[in-house]
Amino acid sequence: MMKMAVEATAPGKAILFGEHSVVYRGPAIVLAIDKRARVVAERTDDDKIFFDALDLGFSGFFDGETYYAVNGEPWRGRRLLAFMVAARKTMEHLDTESGLNITIRSDIPVAAGLGSSAAVSVATVAAVGGALDGDLSQEDICSLAYEGEKVVHGTPSGVDNNISTYGGVLRYERGRELERFELEGELLFVIGNTLRRRSTKKLVDRVGRLMEREPELVDGIIDSIVRTSENGLEALKEANLNRIGDLMNVNHGLLSALGVSISRLDLMVHASRGSGAYGAKLTGAGGGGCMIALTDGENTGRIQKAIYRCRGEPHVVNISYEGVNTRRLD
Ligand code: MEV
Repeated sequence: MMKMAVEATAPGKAILFGEHSVVYRGPAIVLAIDKRARVVAERTDDDKIFFDALDLGFSGFFDGETYYAVNGEPWRGRRLLAFMVAARKTMEHLDTESGLNITIRSDIPVAAGLGSSAAVSVATVAAVGGALDGDLSQEDICSLAYEGEKVVHGTPSGVDNNISTYGGVLRYERGRELERFELEGELLFVIGNTLRRRSTKKLVDRVGRLMEREPELVDGIIDSIVRTSENGLEALKEANLNRIGDLMNVNHGLLSALGVSISRLDLMVHASRGSGAYGAKLTGAGGGGCMIALTDGENTGRIQKAIYRCRGEPHVVNISYEGVNTRRLD
């Protein structure tokens, strides 16, 4: 058995239009951001899957389905479940069984709506595939990572694993071919992290319950978000910053109507608009996590300060056109 360490990296994401509605119908317009997850995988001689996530404060291994903590509390193993499943599905796909050492490092904030979990799943599949000397297409990587994501997020729309695999700007809609765009000119964003972690699954379930109670009303809101996303894509293609900003603002209002904003997000959104952003909205599932503001070079500093004043953590981000990539380390 030839042993080699393989590193894979994959980008996080920010949804510009269409979170939550994409779970039901219509597109999400999503950007890969220049923050990445890094995973190194190497074969071992036993049949255990060892994870080093020491950046996050824990490490441990799976023997079968059971997690044994080496550092940190045993419950932390739950956070590794998606990656363990992604690694096992990759081995199944390649018809190979092996023990693995997997090291996870990431500069994507965790549980903040920036796709950190999907980026780690995608990078895990690519690194494990490489370590097993397997030949995985981007499609394989994307769908194997989705198997992991389903374990923790219920039935996610698939937007997160797609953007982490392909990078760039995507129009993602379930059951429709993916469209990938190169935008004209540069778009600059400030992301504000409320530093409140939240679970995507709980927020998606919350919208689902509202839909059950008020189907007609919620259907109408989803329709409006779908229209906002379609118009938003047009505005992006035209590089019409004022129109993109207006539509981001509308999208935020509609997400608030679905009950997924919180006061800290609203504060940061309004503070960013007041500091010269073209538009601002929550991004991802809401309930905490992050907001995103479209800016130009001139107002970036003011928006960052405004986010600080609301006790948020600002990050200036650019679109990353680089999807998942893999390289041998030896
Ligand atoms: C999460 O990044 C986006 C949501 O639309 C959920 C999903 O698409 O699975 C809230």
